[in-house]
Amino acid sequence: MYFPAYRPRRLRKNENFRRMIRETKVSVDDLVYPLFTISGKDVKKPISSMPGNFQMSIDHLVKEVQKIKEAGIPAVLLFGIPEKKDETASGAFIKDGIIQQAVKRIKDRVPDIVVITDVCLCEYTSHGHCGMLEKNDVDNDTTLEVLAETALSHARAGADMVAPSAMMDGQVGAIREALDEAGYENLPIMAYSAKYASCFYGPFREAAESTPKFGDRKSYQMDPANADEAIREISLDVEEGADIIMVKPALPYLDIIRRAREEFDLPIAAYNVSGEFAMINAAAKLGWIDGEKAMMESLTSIKRAGADIIITYFAPEAAKLLRT
Ligand code: PBG
Repeated sequence: MYFPAYRPRRLRKNENFRRMIRETKVSVDDLVYPLFTISGKDVKKPISSMPGNFQMSIDHLVKEVQKIKEAGIPAVLLFGIPEKKDETASGAFIKDGIIQQAVKRIKDRVPDIVVITDVCLCEYTSHGHCGMLEKNDVDNDTTLEVLAETALSHARAGADMVAPSAMMDGQVGAIREALDEAGYENLPIMAYSAKYASCFYGPFREAAESTPKFGDRKSYQMDPANADEAIREISLDVEEGADIIMVKPALPYLDIIRRAREEFDLPIAAYNVSGEFAMINAAAKLGWIDGEKAMMESLTSIKRAGADIIITYFAPEAAKLLRT
């Protein structure tokens, strides 16, 4: 194809032409909305670095989930902030823990929405790391048992899908086995497979009160410089029984999403994380970019890279635009 025989501008002339040849369309069906729940009653505390997002007690959470369902968004992803944290993350797996109660109440009041639970320990440990400590590092195999117990407690509470995010080796297999043994062989796992040690989680850690008290997460989350390793991580999760694989964060890792799309034929989720959300909001507030356009362009890029599912704090705002 050479100019002047081929002139790409011919089909860019007007919006109808552009609509006809548009390759990527974000749909409300693609979206998952993350929510933070905290113990107490009538609590709705704004998260300063994530405008429009709150730490909510279960009463408010249920109302919010109802609104999300009415907006046409098919799923929510729940994070819990427990009443108290301890060395062993007991708040993560006790029967009446914050997530277990929240799931029960949502399934009771808003049954027709997919409730996904984040399976990790950093919100529940006093030290803020994602697992059990041994000599100031997270011990992989003892953590696996706690993660499996946590996932199982979510299943018992009625979760529709569990999403392990601790980046422990073997976590998907350990959870799959525990679920299968307890009769939850039909409960799917969305695995945070390629999760990077990213600074873009900053605002989330304020929201989930999960900043590590010492050190960082580099001994378990991936080095941002590595792409081949992401493929190895995803392969492990696929072999261990993941139903959906995830790349996280999204925008700085579109190449990883694309490679995953080319190498695996499972559904791919991408997590458009808190820092990505905060940056767009901050720049829009300063009048430096058009926030709405930046949001849609970002979501479109993530989909174009190959994601089927986009986990995003923009979900309610995007759903409004997509449905009108
Ligand atoms: C871990 C977890 C984190 C996020 C989701 N699950 C934080 C972390 O690994 O430190 C980050 C999500 C975001 O930034 O939006 N439980």
